[in-house]
Amino acid sequence: MSDTANPNAVAESIGDAESHFTSEARGEPAGTGRYVNVDSLSPVEFVPGLGFRPVLGQRAMTNFVSFGPGAVAPRHVHEEEQIVIILDGELVFDLDGDVRTMRRGDVAVIPAWVPHGAWTTEDTCCEEIDVFCPPRESLLKLAKGLGKAIAAELLAEGAAVAICSRNADELEATAAELRKLAAEGDSRLGLVIAMKCDVTVPDQVAEFIESAVSAMGGLDILVNNAGGARPGQFGTLTDDDWHADIEVKLFSQIRCTRAALPQLRRSTAPRVININAVYGRYPDPAFLASSVNRASCLSLSKALSMELGREGILVNSVNIGLVETPQWQNIHRRRAPEVPAEEFFGQLAAAEVPLGRFGQPHEVAGLVTFLASDRASYIAGASIDVAGGMGKFL
Ligand SMILES: NC(=O)c1ccc[n+]([C@@H]2O[C@H](COP(=O)([O-])OP(=O)(O)OC[C@H]3O[C@@H](n4cnc5c(N)ncnc54)[C@H](OP(=O)(O)O)[C@@H]3O)[C@@H](O)[C@H]2O)c1
Repeated sequence: MSDTANPNAVAESIGDAESHFTSEARGEPAGTGRYVNVDSLSPVEFVPGLGFRPVLGQRAMTNFVSFGPGAVAPRHVHEEEQIVIILDGELVFDLDGDVRTMRRGDVAVIPAWVPHGAWTTEDTCCEEIDVFCPPRESLLKLAKGLGKAIAAELLAEGAAVAICSRNADELEATAAELRKLAAEGDSRLGLVIAMKCDVTVPDQVAEFIESAVSAMGGLDILVNNAGGARPGQFGTLTDDDWHADIEVKLFSQIRCTRAALPQLRRSTAPRVININAVYGRYPDPAFLASSVNRASCLSLSKALSMELGREGILVNSVNIGLVETPQWQNIHRRRAPEVPAEEFFGQLAAAEVPLGRFGQPHEVAGLVTFLASDRASYIAGASIDVAGGMGKFL
């Protein structure tokens, strides 16, 4: 770590107050902004004694980090630039072999890929802030699965969210994790409602939407995400397979939209975002039911966008290619546990995905959050692939 350079040079480079505090708009506001109270966030404990409370911006992230006595952040590297600011206590910091004790007010600037690590002794604690630009990938990946990643990003943007699935235990674990991740400030922000609901059962859908609306005070954004891979060619798929698949894919979107519609009509910025698949536009005979049923979902999205667009309700479809979620991690564990995950997914992607890799859940969540935002106020009836270029179609 180099010591501070000439402070006068820094002051000169800042410029004058008039230009610094200009209120002249030279572009569109990039968002609505929000307040966060860090003390109200529950830390996520990655390793014993090391608590993370990340707060996500659009192009940057701060992580409020607490080190208990004897906590260790092992030596590591990453592609994001990082600035460490010590708030309280002390920390031994190893910046690429330059080892120093950092105390309140000390700052370490760590360029991308520079190895570093930090630890407290058995007698010391430390509170510090890590600033990352762009946001640190591995912190975004605290959330796994598309539904969880979408909920996490909407939460980070200040929304209250309600999630459902059929498995009460998994749902509660997800909700607990989301609550930990919620980087929110006022009384509504950080609210996570979780309710067991099978979206193929109409009464359960109605009850879920009703409960969510009364807990959140309204409903502006419906994300239809339920689904799952159903492999099978024409010769192997039974009528039951076809029925089960169309229930969870097409009818869940129909029923959830129908149940949410009265509330969406009361919203000032209503959105329906349907999570679909590129196989709906580019059928794969090995996933025949999924391909055919997703094509009907795409048609539903387009037709609904035309009907509901007249009322100002924006309906769009986000079409997934190959994104690494627990369903694919299970496939990896079943098929080739001895092959490293990167290699397994790399081989699968090589044949079909021009970018040559699986996507990550946060890469889908970013688009969904954009479509839900005011910045997407003129996008309706769009069918947008998040698929790394996969799909031979125009
Ligand atoms: N990952 C990909 O590569 C990929 C590719 C194309 C399309 N997609 C689509 O993207 C969406 C999310 O994908 P993912 O990879 O995160 O899938 P996933 O891991 O299989 O998750 C699907 C989610 O849907 C829920 N679900 C399934 N059936 C349900 C039902 N009847 N009622 C309520 N919840 C139900 C599941 O929870 P429970 O099982 O606990 O109910 C789970 O939370 C799905 O619609 C999937 O088909 C994903």
